[in-house]
Amino acid sequence: MLVPEEFIEDAIQKIKEKIGDDKAIIALSGGVDSSVCSVLVQKAIENNLIAIFVNHGLLREGEVEEVTNTFKDRLNFNYVDASEEFLDALKGVEDPEEKRKIIGKVFIEVFEREAEKTDAKYLVQGTIAPDWIESEGKIKSHHNLALPSGMVLEVVEPIRDLYKDEVREIGLKLDLPEKVIYRQPFPGPGLAVRVIGDLTKEKLEICRKANKIVSDEVEKAGIDKEVWQYFAVLTDTKATGVKGDQRDFGYLVVLRIVNSVDAMTAYVPELPWQLVQKISKRITSEVSEVTHVALSISDKPPATIEFA
Ligand code: XMP
Repeated sequence: MLVPEEFIEDAIQKIKEKIGDDKAIIALSGGVDSSVCSVLVQKAIENNLIAIFVNHGLLREGEVEEVTNTFKDRLNFNYVDASEEFLDALKGVEDPEEKRKIIGKVFIEVFEREAEKTDAKYLVQGTIAPDWIESEGKIKSHHNLALPSGMVLEVVEPIRDLYKDEVREIGLKLDLPEKVIYRQPFPGPGLAVRVIGDLTKEKLEICRKANKIVSDEVEKAGIDKEVWQYFAVLTDTKATGVKGDQRDFGYLVVLRIVNSVDAMTAYVPELPWQLVQKISKRITSEVSEVTHVALSISDKPPATIEFA
């Protein structure tokens, strides 16, 4: 069984031995794995760890401020706003897999550019056990990242043997805020997988507003820790509605709330009807471009958790 204090002490010792006086970088997303990993490595090598937080323009409302406020005094924290670069690369792209590939490629380009500004020798990654167990045999345990300049970063994975619940225990011991530790999973490609069809700033803003309403209401209802994920999807379907005494042809938004243990399977729990109604009412009245809200009732399988 994991004893958090022992794990932390041991991990700090090992990181010090491995990295010594050299520099390391990490891509910090604000999710629990990269956050715990960053704070742990910071404890070992202090400001020789450079944490890079990339804004790809696909983040949720208030996320940049939240991540920045949590980490600016805890880490050697570097914020990079690359949103225009990502949105340019994604212009007109409708296929979800193509969107993911473009986001992955641009992310590496941005990260490599930032890494080259430092003289880091190590790349810290918040890989945890399920990440490599699921793909065992496909990845090598010692892998390095060669940058375009020829610079090679050696990968260090201090929490690779931990499971999610253990990462959370370590995070609590490291005094990370509960908001970070119990944050619901948010996909790397962000809102790109929650906007169907091509991405525009306008559609992202609609999706962002609808998601903010969903999370506010789910948290207010006190079920945020009971469910796995809760979010809104902006579809490319339009539906007729009435606004005042005018006909309106607006967007259909789908509300998705699922429960899961490991994201491999998921089910839609019974939801308080008042909560569902409140979310629908708020989205259609506060987000003027939306006329209809539908509730997704499909489990995984056959559906996936995300819509794209
Ligand atoms: P699906 O939609 O495949 O999602 O049932 C399973 C879990 O993974 C998250 N997800 C992603 N996470 N990059 C990520 O980091 C991705 O491209 C991605 N796609 C899905 C999803 O939110 C769910 O928790």
